[in-house]
Amino acid sequence: MFLDINGFKMAFESQGQGPPLLFIHGFPFNRRMWEPQMGPFSVKSQVLAPDLRGHGDSEPIEGPYSIDMLVDDCVALLDALDIEQPAVVCGLSMGGYITLAMYRRYPERICGLILAATRAGADSLEGKANRDKAIAQVEKDGTAPITDSMLPKLMSPRTYETNPDLVRQVKSIMTSTSVPGMIGALESMKTRPDSTPLLSEITGPTLILHGEDDQLIPLQEAHSIHTAIADSTICLMSSAGHLPNVEQPERFNQVVKEFLEKL
Ligand code: MLT
Repeated sequence: MFLDINGFKMAFESQGQGPPLLFIHGFPFNRRMWEPQMGPFSVKSQVLAPDLRGHGDSEPIEGPYSIDMLVDDCVALLDALDIEQPAVVCGLSMGGYITLAMYRRYPERICGLILAATRAGADSLEGKANRDKAIAQVEKDGTAPITDSMLPKLMSPRTYETNPDLVRQVKSIMTSTSVPGMIGALESMKTRPDSTPLLSEITGPTLILHGEDDQLIPLQEAHSIHTAIADSTICLMSSAGHLPNVEQPERFNQVVKEFLEKL
């Protein structure tokens, strides 16, 4: 499905009816990464999964992008679908940065947070410099060098050994990110504000999920979020790396289901 919002054509999936459950993908992915969640959760919820601007089938509009723009795109999707009821928002990695920024600006739109494989802090100076290097590389050589260098680090060693189909699928999802989308996302992550001070103000129930083998965002980041958010639960997932929802979908879905049932 497509909608014209905020000056571009946004692709999104909407399945089921009931309380809204919004899934926000990480970098450089798109809504296809939530396929293992769409069917199971659409039994009791209206499950929404957008392709962020420049990603997947959404229009590859030129930047600059910011995390706040990506938040506004998600909120515009809810508005366009007349969803006034607060949503449970589940963001993975960059999607988690967006979820926290959405809570900062529109807390009334969120009734529960699911923060998967993410961190609250801003980029360090070294991290920002690495984003600049990555942007220069995409400008020069396109998106392939970034996706090729990320692919071997995204999942648990066990996933690479046991699930080559998934590795191929993950690569194919990343390959559909456009050049402006990749540059825009890198820029938006580089300039994102520090959400650490926000954590102690989060009153909504929060579930934190993190793969024990995450090579991109250390486990310690999940513990720090858990310590700072009063009403939070943490689940560490064994044999999962940075993409726990696709590497261990049954366990991921079970934990999310239990969280939703308690809301
Ligand atoms: C992601 O998975 O969204 C990114 O790896 C996050 C980041 O680069 O900070």
